[in-house]
Amino acid sequence: MATNSTDLAGRHLVLGLSGGIACYKSAELVRQLIQAGATVQVVMTEGAEAFITPITLQALSGRPVYTSQWDAREPNNMPHINLSREADAVLVAPASADFMARLAQGRADELLSLLCLARPIERCPLLLAPAMNREMWAHPATQRNAAQLRADGATLLGPDAGDQACGEVGDGRMLEPEDLVEELTAFFQPKVLAGRSVLITAGPTYEAIDPVRGITNRSSGKMGFALARAAREAGARVTLVAGPVALATPRGVARVDVHSARQMHEAVLPLAASQDVFIATAAVADWRPAEVQEHKIKKDGSGQAPSIAMAENPDILAAVARLPRPPYCVGFAAESRELLAHAQAKRERKGIPLIVGNLGPATFGRDDNTLLLVDEHGHREIPTGGKQALARELVREIAHRLKNPT
Ligand code: CTP
Repeated sequence: MATNSTDLAGRHLVLGLSGGIACYKSAELVRQLIQAGATVQVVMTEGAEAFITPITLQALSGRPVYTSQWDAREPNNMPHINLSREADAVLVAPASADFMARLAQGRADELLSLLCLARPIERCPLLLAPAMNREMWAHPATQRNAAQLRADGATLLGPDAGDQACGEVGDGRMLEPEDLVEELTAFFQPKVLAGRSVLITAGPTYEAIDPVRGITNRSSGKMGFALARAAREAGARVTLVAGPVALATPRGVARVDVHSARQMHEAVLPLAASQDVFIATAAVADWRPAEVQEHKIKKDGSGQAPSIAMAENPDILAAVARLPRPPYCVGFAAESRELLAHAQAKRERKGIPLIVGNLGPATFGRDDNTLLLVDEHGHREIPTGGKQALARELVREIAHRLKNPT
């Protein structure tokens, strides 16, 4: 998913590099962290300098890189204290097997491990992105060290599975830079939905007419995907049931792909009863061709267009709201006029506590939106903003309502 340019605004990070081939990805990581609004101070071990030069990272971060605890640039000669006091977090990417072993033992014989040990543990979290050969990662010593580091309060991001630089395939790849930025962004978000489960529908549906044609709509799925990401950032277990869209799955979100409204209904209903929250952002087709033709409909030369009989689709949101113990249901109303009146009527008709109105033509496919929250007490506008920022605000609103039922 594209990095939102303000996701890390105001955050100051120490990015530590220990020795490993994944150092080449850290150059791109610095760029993406800065694009997301962070300031980045790079610290490298001697091993990291064998893979990438400090000059590259200085150029990308706009700050001289620190490589030694004896760095005379600091007036008090204590870079390990000064750098860790300024930082909102320390991210070590790549974290090599050796570096993790040294951290687990509390060693402090070079600047990066010294800085990790000297950081104010309550105020400056430590995140590690392991990168190593799969055998090294799977080795009991490394697993023991990883468990110890978690117990000491560190957060491990990854590793990923896949092709490795050594030619082997398995667990141990460093997460890609965009994944690390997404994880870091999530890390800083308040965990207002911790322990909750959230089910979301997103995108259009596709109702087949024949094997090559169908009826769909212009929903891009962006709002639903932004909500899935925001809910996961807030600590929820998230399942996303998506119609046909060209969007990457947010990290940590379980995704079920469907095409038609009936498939979406079949995917949602068995899951819905066990959820805390259901958010229906999908633009579900109200009708489908009553019969799907087995073969492509051909022109018959009569000049007459074929007439297609339609059947009504199930209303997924209304069906979930009718469950004996429904999750907290949030609907979306895409309207082209009289937003408030239509949204209020729709909320009552579907029997749901909260509906979010937006003007369809103004939002489909766009990255920003304006939302109107409508409940039994009245309405409130969330002013125009990026869909990710709006999604985070809506998640906070839903979390508040779960905690304080009216
Ligand atoms: N919805 C649904 N299943 C349907 C139709 C709609 O779950 N078959 C959900 C949508 O995901 C959305 C809400 O219901 O959260 C409102 O959808 P919308 O299409 O705007 O409303 P309709 O029920 O189709 O009403 P109308 O045709 O009057 O606009």
